[in-house]
Amino acid sequence: MEIDPYLSVAEKINSDKFSSIFVLVDENTEKFCLELFIKKSGIKSFNKIIISSGEENKNIDTCISIWDQLNSFKADRKSLLINLGGGVLTDIGGFAASTYLRGIEFINIPTTLLGMVDAAHGGKTGIDFKQLKNQIGVFNEPLEVLLDDEYLKTLSKEEFINGYAEVVKHSLLTDKPDLTFNSLIKLDLFKDSDYIINSYSSVKNEIVESDKYESSIRKILNLGHTIGHAVESYSYISDKVVDLKHGQAIVIGIITELYISYKKFNFPLKDLINVKEHLKNYFSLIQLEEDDIMNIYDLMVYDKKNEGSKINFVLLKEIGKPVIDQIANKDLFIESFRFYNE
Ligand SMILES: NC(=O)c1ccc[n+]([C@@H]2O[C@H](COP(=O)([O-])OP(=O)(O)OC[C@H]3O[C@@H](n4cnc5c(N)ncnc54)[C@H](O)[C@@H]3O)[C@@H](O)[C@H]2O)c1
Repeated sequence: MEIDPYLSVAEKINSDKFSSIFVLVDENTEKFCLELFIKKSGIKSFNKIIISSGEENKNIDTCISIWDQLNSFKADRKSLLINLGGGVLTDIGGFAASTYLRGIEFINIPTTLLGMVDAAHGGKTGIDFKQLKNQIGVFNEPLEVLLDDEYLKTLSKEEFINGYAEVVKHSLLTDKPDLTFNSLIKLDLFKDSDYIINSYSSVKNEIVESDKYESSIRKILNLGHTIGHAVESYSYISDKVVDLKHGQAIVIGIITELYISYKKFNFPLKDLINVKEHLKNYFSLIQLEEDDIMNIYDLMVYDKKNEGSKINFVLLKEIGKPVIDQIANKDLFIESFRFYNE
């Protein structure tokens, strides 16, 4: 028998544990998700806090507006914040809650695929600061993460697919036969979304559980992100390359970092080609020219996860066998983009 994902949240919000409840939404989740949440959770009384959607609003000004609204509704330390939205909203809502009055409890209800499989889990909260993504933040676990794929119905196809890059990443990190990449590709992303969000978020949660503060094993979740983040940042400042969504940039990171894995650790070529071909079914792989690649290389040096001037990669020996803290030289980096562009 299927368990109602709302049971535990409904029990908490309808108990007298909290002095007041706030639901954080942006203009899209207010329109498309709030009614569904009210209906399914049976929530009786709450105050709504609205912020503007978009990565450009994941900043201190939006955070101040959340704190202001909490103040104006006289929130106290026993208040609860429910974050109903995508990764931008759960990141900033988690951060605002974690810092308001030295921390109030929060619940994440992700409404995008990326949020459901990744962003809402694991306790990383934060905001962007001076062009640097997630520069300010704290680790703090939500009280609960509620997964309901019904919210995905109103998500644009582009946003839906954006989250698939992280699903693929999780499938490359796990060695569980029924979840690994070769099992994932047999699924239908749209029809099997409930199974996908529950299974691939659990891959992340298991990794996080063993290393909450990313001192070792949790670093494997950065697969595809060393190069991916640099590509994403580059797309925002470049006049030549269109702004890329996070998922599109991570796909470039996954392909190039698997190529480096192939060169350094004999990651099977057959799997490398399969991953690239599979991703091409969902994402269009933009061509990057020599000067773009050099600029992306320079940007990688600024990635905060790199210690000193060394660039750290997560690489794979094979699917399900990641290795952390690997370095690759500039020539191999350039070569990996030649493979990507082919
Ligand atoms: N904390 C973490 O561990 C972690 C991990 C990965 C990514 N992230 C962060 O996640 C963010 C990206 O999240 P995202 O991809 O979910 O983007 P997003 O939060 O910007 O949401 C995408 C768009 O979809 C809209 N939307 C959300 N749910 C909707 C729904 N059900 N129907 C219609 N529209 C809806 C939003 O309003 C927004 O316009 C980035 O800031 C990234 O840094 C955090």
